[in-house]
Amino acid sequence: MTAHVPDPDIPAHLQAIVRRALEQTVNGVVVSDATQPGNPIVYVNGGFTRLTGYPFAEVLGRSCNFLQGQEREQAGVRRLREAIARGEDAIVVVRNYRRDGSLFWNRVELSPVRDTVTGAVTHFFALQTDVTLEREAEEAAQVRAVGLERAIGAHPLGLIALDDQDRVQLFSPACTDLLGLAADEALGLDTAALTDRIAQDGNASTARLAWPTPPDKTLWELHAPQHRVIEVSASPLGTLTGQRLVLLRDVTEQRAQQATRDHFLATAAHELRTPLGSIRGFTELLLMRRYSAEESRPLLETVLKQSLRLSGMLDDLLDLAQLDERGGEAFALSAVDLLPVVRQAADVIELPGQKHCLQLALPREPVRVLGHGARLEQVLINLLSNAVKYSPDGGTITCRVQAADADGLCRLSVSDQGLGLSEQDQARLFTRFFRANPGGPIPGTGLGLCIVKEMVDRMGGRIAVASRLGEGTTFTLFLQPAEAAAAAPATTEKAAP
Ligand SMILES: Cc1cc2nc3c(=O)[nH]c(=O)nc-3n(C[C@H](O)[C@H](O)[C@H](O)COP(=O)(O)O)c2cc1C
Repeated sequence: MTAHVPDPDIPAHLQAIVRRALEQTVNGVVVSDATQPGNPIVYVNGGFTRLTGYPFAEVLGRSCNFLQGQEREQAGVRRLREAIARGEDAIVVVRNYRRDGSLFWNRVELSPVRDTVTGAVTHFFALQTDVTLEREAEEAAQVRAVGLERAIGAHPLGLIALDDQDRVQLFSPACTDLLGLAADEALGLDTAALTDRIAQDGNASTARLAWPTPPDKTLWELHAPQHRVIEVSASPLGTLTGQRLVLLRDVTEQRAQQATRDHFLATAAHELRTPLGSIRGFTELLLMRRYSAEESRPLLETVLKQSLRLSGMLDDLLDLAQLDERGGEAFALSAVDLLPVVRQAADVIELPGQKHCLQLALPREPVRVLGHGARLEQVLINLLSNAVKYSPDGGTITCRVQAADADGLCRLSVSDQGLGLSEQDQARLFTRFFRANPGGPIPGTGLGLCIVKEMVDRMGGRIAVASRLGEGTTFTLFLQPAEAAAAAPATTEKAAP
């Protein structure tokens, strides 16, 4: 660009208009003398003064570099220096400071002014535009883009952006975890090719990997390296472009939980119906026929027994529901001494007749564990009453407390000399509604041990069972000593009898 010098042929009234326009434009205009060292300013217009705050008198004879404050080595400034040295045009954006010290972004369009006869550069002409707003908007957009990229990168939701030809434009890091495919393998593939890649190595059959059309959702079941279920949903990116955003969400856990819940509900309904059916049946009988007091007694006893069973089951179900719902926050943990817990439970437990003998094997020193006093007592009462129930011929029931062992865990165990459990029954002992001998005379809901396990889990402990048919059973709780801060994940395993 070469600056236009007013043509002497332009009529005087037009020249006056051009001068007024130059004064009144919002842009700053600067002319410097290129024949003097440092390119001193010889002219600035009103726009320069409005932009920078400097009046003409203050800048006349100075280099324009004072606008840069301390920032004299910006890339744009270096570019201007070069252009001036070579007598060239340059367009740059630089950080400049107004007279009041405030920063603004200045787009400088510099051009040499040449002598029409010799061609030598006599002046430089510069047009200045305040581009602060554009620059701030650009920076904000960049920050947003970086933030978005980070958020997408860290988000467990997989994001795939497809262009109007169904080719992958974006493949977020979570997609790699979900689909087992690196971004550079997926980018540029169309959905058909991507489906083939995902289905490779026996991961799935391509027929089962349908791509949803917005606003539909579909499920992909993948098998390698491990089984997972991914919910795939799509939404249009803009209305006319044909681009789509596909969202992938791992719902394996959620679906497994749903299946467990459905199973649990079905079993609960079935289990509740059994005592209810018998209460109803016997009551109908009693209403329909005339029984003597003697005849009706066993029927009424059954009604009572079944209604007690029903209410016990409801209590247990409520306990379990509370534990499920509140998760780790079901109760607050603190340091609990096991010895008073055991003594209180031993006081409460009823030993029918004279057949049973309860023995406490307690150390002298307190054994403080991380737990909840009342819940530990509930757990222990449950284990003790099980021990009584499952040793109908009596025998010794031993409740033992041991301080932290080599593995760093304290132990609380209940042993009986009763019926014992088969290997198969031991394996299913903590399954909801499981009962070792469902038709037998020993009452129970099949939920007690599940509640025990859930509670111990939430104390960061675990429960183990060791048993032999006809010899007896030992349940052992492994609990964290009170000083252990973090609760370890709980598992069920077999302990040595
Ligand atoms: C006509 C003209 C206008 C200029 N306008 C600006 C300006 O608005 N902002 C700026 O930072 N530098 C501007 N410059 C550049 C500085 O005046 C100076 O040339 C540049 O910083 C290189 O010189 P230095 O080596 O002294 O830093 C302009 C230069 C000329 C010749």
